[in-house]
Amino acid sequence: MAADPLSITKLQAWYGESHILHGVDLNVRQGEVVTLLGRNGAGRTTTLRAILGLTGQRRGTVTINGVETTQLAPHRIARLGVGYCPEERGIFSSLSAEENLLLPPRLAAGGMEVDEIYAMFPNLKERAKSPGTRLSGGEQQMLALARILRSGARLLLLDEISEGLAPVIVQKLGEVIRALKTRGFTIVLVEQNFRFAAPLADRFYVMEHGKIVKQFAQSELEQQRGMLHEFLGV
Ligand SMILES: Nc1ncnc2c1ncn2[C@@H]1O[C@H](COP(=O)(O)OP(=O)(O)OP(=O)(O)O)[C@@H](O)[C@H]1O
Ligand SMILES: [Mg+2]
Repeated sequence: MAADPLSITKLQAWYGESHILHGVDLNVRQGEVVTLLGRNGAGRTTTLRAILGLTGQRRGTVTINGVETTQLAPHRIARLGVGYCPEERGIFSSLSAEENLLLPPRLAAGGMEVDEIYAMFPNLKERAKSPGTRLSGGEQQMLALARILRSGARLLLLDEISEGLAPVIVQKLGEVIRALKTRGFTIVLVEQNFRFAAPLADRFYVMEHGKIVKQFAQSELEQQRGMLHEFLGV
């Protein structure tokens, strides 16, 4: 049987002297959507960054498609087929939408073609020649997502993609996540917007103070409502 796309054990991570992650255990199976919940500062973004080798020192194991990566440089980790959509989106304002889309190198075989991407994001096709600065927040978010689909990444780490967007755009993002799941992508969603994440996720992890404190499956969601309210106020 093939190894899981992502398997993390006892992951600790630091920013300089600051010890942020205190032993994270997390596993994501092929084709799953897993959501990482937690209050502000719980360590969710740091977990994504630590997977990619973008924090300071790391301890523990991060195994991607069977390859242990804690000693690898970030570009080597990305080439294992990991796509990262950071909270700040990283759209270059001086480049057009299409230039932004075509900018990142192919990391792995099987990346989506531009036509397929435009079929999934028709707005981006219309806006292909518009400079990054002229795109709405929703268009920028779609572009940030589209860009990593072209790279050939099959494991997607998405940080707060619904943040600050209008409900109609958030709904569209939900449709995109479902479509990607159908196509066999494996997705880790970091979300503050529980209503967005709740129907999409196969499983949930709750973080607090740099540790996973709970995990449960979609089928257990209803019985976990009380706990979620207590931990997250949702
Ligand atoms: N570059 C950094 N240097 C030092 N400390 C950092 C750095 N980035 C984050 N931290 C600290 O690490 C802790 C976890 O932050 P992280 O960004 O992972 O939280 P989060 O769960 O993503 O929450 P949110 O996105 O809502 O802020 C926080 O205490 C934060 O202040
Ligand atoms: Mg964050």
